[in-house]
Amino acid sequence: MRSPKDFFRPLAVGAPDPVREIPFRPSRMIHFFDPSNAKMAAKVPDIAGKVDVLLGNLEDAVQADRKEAARAGLVDIAKATDFGDTQLWVRVNSLDSPWGLDDLMTLVREIGDKLDVIMVPKVEGAEDIHYVDRLLAQLEAKAGLRRPLLVHAILETARGVANVEEIAGASPRMQGLSLGPADLAASRRMKTTRVGGGHPGYLVRTDPVGEDLNAGRQTSQQDLWHYTVARMVDACAANGILPYYGPFGDIRDTVACEDQFRNAFLLGCVGAWSLHPVQIEIARRVFSPEPADVRWARKVIAAMGDGTGAVMIDGKMQDDATVKQCRVVAELADALAA
Ligand code: GLV
Ligand code: MG
Repeated sequence: MRSPKDFFRPLAVGAPDPVREIPFRPSRMIHFFDPSNAKMAAKVPDIAGKVDVLLGNLEDAVQADRKEAARAGLVDIAKATDFGDTQLWVRVNSLDSPWGLDDLMTLVREIGDKLDVIMVPKVEGAEDIHYVDRLLAQLEAKAGLRRPLLVHAILETARGVANVEEIAGASPRMQGLSLGPADLAASRRMKTTRVGGGHPGYLVRTDPVGEDLNAGRQTSQQDLWHYTVARMVDACAANGILPYYGPFGDIRDTVACEDQFRNAFLLGCVGAWSLHPVQIEIARRVFSPEPADVRWARKVIAAMGDGTGAVMIDGKMQDDATVKQCRVVAELADALAA
């Protein structure tokens, strides 16, 4: 099994093999459900096995007076469901909320053997991860768990973004980071009320044609999240963990959702959240490399032999660096096919 560290391993010739701690598992779509919502909970057995990750959400979008019901609902669902190859994750309440501690204590005790990853919201610095790490160590020992629980942090405050590198490297439990564009927009006092995606006002405009300042000008939207996603990807790659685009809130706008997911994929993300079944297939398509790209990657790898030197293929120069780029695509295809 390959690990997230392995996935981003330095590809220089002769680089030593890194320690393989966390097995790499596909996580193209992290499909959210509310365990306190009976209708949604009833669908879990049907979805299990058909998505990479199912996540029981206990935090935002669950009403305050439904928090205990959501926690208990997740325990029941986890005990009753065979998840097959699907990973089970949970998003617990934040560490400064009245529910975060009880979430961790109950879930590790009751279903720690079924859970793969604990998603922690509103992480602001390494201290938050250290706290969760130590607490999990105690709870795991008490519950007699034989497999460590992994931790995923949501990057959704200005302070969290400022500390992203230390968060990514704060514990060997760290599995990955997700962008949380809604809370982050609020924390930064951005002027968008959307959950992820672009904004019609955030534009670049081409120069005018001739003297008339209004003539021939075209506009295109810029990506509001480019800076944060790029920082997050660098922090994850530098620490051998996985980056994810978070939620896209306009469920009807499947075109913009696909565009946003694709931008994130091209920048290095391995998955995104799906908030509705229509987003499951978008994420599966976007975060799986295109067959034509995989064929091209394998052709370059084969032509490059030991990976050094330079060759021309279809008029394009290939060398030690491009073969590494191609390995990223080919290895992702192999990992998803395994
Ligand atoms: C997700 O939690 C977000 O705030 O976007
Ligand atoms: Mg949030």
